[in-house]
Amino acid sequence: MHLKVLAVNSLLRDLEREYSVIRTKIAENEDEELYLDVWKRAQADSPWFQDHRPYAPIFKEELDAAQAAFRDSNSKCWIVMDDGNAAGVLACRKGKDIARLGSGDREPAVLPSYRPASAGIKLLDAALEWSIEQGLPGVFTLLKLPPGIDPRTQWHVELCFQWGMKLTRLAVQLGARIHKTEEYANPQVRFKGVSYVGLDCFCDLILRSFESTRKFEYDPFVHDPFKVRSVPSRIYETEPDGMFVAYIRDEPVGLVVTQAPIPVFKDPMCGLIAVIGVLPEYREKKIGMSLLQKAHNYIIGKGYGYSFVGTSESNVASTALYHGMGYHPVYRILKFVKVIKDVNIPRDLLPHNFNELCPL
Ligand SMILES: CC(C)(COP(=O)(O)OP(=O)(O)OC[C@H]1O[C@@H](n2cnc3c(N)ncnc32)[C@H](O)[C@@H]1OP(=O)(O)O)[C@@H](O)C(=O)NCCC(=O)NCCS
Repeated sequence: MHLKVLAVNSLLRDLEREYSVIRTKIAENEDEELYLDVWKRAQADSPWFQDHRPYAPIFKEELDAAQAAFRDSNSKCWIVMDDGNAAGVLACRKGKDIARLGSGDREPAVLPSYRPASAGIKLLDAALEWSIEQGLPGVFTLLKLPPGIDPRTQWHVELCFQWGMKLTRLAVQLGARIHKTEEYANPQVRFKGVSYVGLDCFCDLILRSFESTRKFEYDPFVHDPFKVRSVPSRIYETEPDGMFVAYIRDEPVGLVVTQAPIPVFKDPMCGLIAVIGVLPEYREKKIGMSLLQKAHNYIIGKGYGYSFVGTSESNVASTALYHGMGYHPVYRILKFVKVIKDVNIPRDLLPHNFNELCPL
């Protein structure tokens, strides 16, 4: 089997190059059609699309995301070819400090007969090389799995292990219908809107609250000062009413950011608790619980049925907090990172044993 990767993304079409033995040309106006056709066929057996629970991704929306990636000038897309036949596809988006694999969470998308190894590995190699050409240190990916699915049976999880990515485990949890309550777990806590402290102070609270999670988790949205500013700023423009600061007497001690509706899921029933944090010196005083109640109350008050919050399994405190407040897990994300250059991102993401993975 001869495999080659053909770069087809519009921005970087001139970088199209032979990856392996056979050279196959794809006509420009057919590129997108072929790309999306392979994506669809490769995703058809994904356990997600057999799952019809409320938060399972919707095939059409995922396909739209693949198309958006194809047209995005900051992304690059590849089709891996075998003797003129397309075997799989992958998109990769240029980020500020790392490249993000996949338009959704199930890429590389490889046709069943080309799994698990070679075609996917060619795609991952191509993405890694491209990230280096872009001056980035490597690639990062999230793989989401429905609850109950054993990651060891998933070919793309195995692929990432074979390829040698380091792994951290992530769980994403969905809020149960917990009741609105005005009785906060810590009755001393008072809440003020973001405008009371200003966006700068709010972002500073996020950075200080999340400093400790750096030790076990890489998340650019809370560790990168630029993103810490950009994400709340964006939400601030559209939904400042859902951003709260917790006060004990006159001291700001924690924060929470909500978003309803959730932009990605577009679920009319569900609001997101996007960021929650308490300053280290004020922890374990039921301030986190109170912030979670406040955020949930805000979301329910807007007419939504659920609140939704994500966390890492390695984040013991937040996992216990969410369980304790009646949230139950809906799906798991696997988060991979492969770094080849020495840059300022955490190096303590230990490789895990594939056999240690288990379903939720
Ligand atoms: C997660 C976080 C918000 C919790 O805030 P907090 O004010 O310390 O939490 P609370 O005092 O309200 O604790 C509520 C429950 O959470 C759990 N919990 C909190 N801290 C814990 C810890 N260190 N270990 C185990 N469980 C913990 C407990 O079940 C606790 O209930 P209990 O007091 O009845 O035992 C806080 O640790 C934090 O800001 N962490 C850093 C930022 C972060 O990781 N945010 C979450 C991202 S998903």
